[in-house]
Amino acid sequence: MKNIVILISGRGSNFEAILERSRAERWAETIGADIRAVISNRPEAKGLVTAKQNGIEAVALDHKTFASREEFDKALGDLVASYEPDLVVLAGFMRVLTPVFTDRFEGRMLNIHPALLPLFPGLHTHERAIEAGCRVHGSTVHFVSSVLDGGAIIGQAVVPVLPTDTPDTLADRGLVLEHKLYPAVVKAFLEGRVRLEDGRAVMDDATARELAIFA
Ligand code: GRF
Repeated sequence: MKNIVILISGRGSNFEAILERSRAERWAETIGADIRAVISNRPEAKGLVTAKQNGIEAVALDHKTFASREEFDKALGDLVASYEPDLVVLAGFMRVLTPVFTDRFEGRMLNIHPALLPLFPGLHTHERAIEAGCRVHGSTVHFVSSVLDGGAIIGQAVVPVLPTDTPDTLADRGLVLEHKLYPAVVKAFLEGRVRLEDGRAVMDDATARELAIFA
């Protein structure tokens, strides 16, 4: 069985989207993959409740109880490794990770970022896209490297930016497509259709088409 470990910090709607697709398509039987655990650096994360309600192991590892970023990353790495993950999915995990963590899971760790990378890495992406006058915005799923929001791009979802948009309305429009994009990328990775090679995401044309999503 291929083990998936999901890391969150809050709401966990992307985790839910992946869970729903995995159940609807019975990934355990069809591709031999299962969500083994959901881990949050914030104990109050709503996604932990969702995990428990669905019979999935839910663990909180509070970063505030660690003296340094590196110590937290070491403990988090040990916890994640204890589930023998084939894939680590960062889904709204709002904490900068050091190489202590990222090097350990290179090539088998994904993140979703709410912008069309390489535009707008970091925070407040919707606000920045509106301010810059962008006519399109969206989200990116990429392999995680030690550079924040800087790893190889796998798939992107594009939405229009409307004149009446606020950062919130734009974020809501983007989130709807994130819930299509992220499960699709996770599935493609688990099926061996996407891999990291020499710092680039490798896939065939059909997969690249599938993982480019437009509103
Ligand atoms: C998403 O917009 C994602 O792009 C960003 O954080 C948000 C997470 O939402 N990294 P959720 O916790 O999955 O609902």
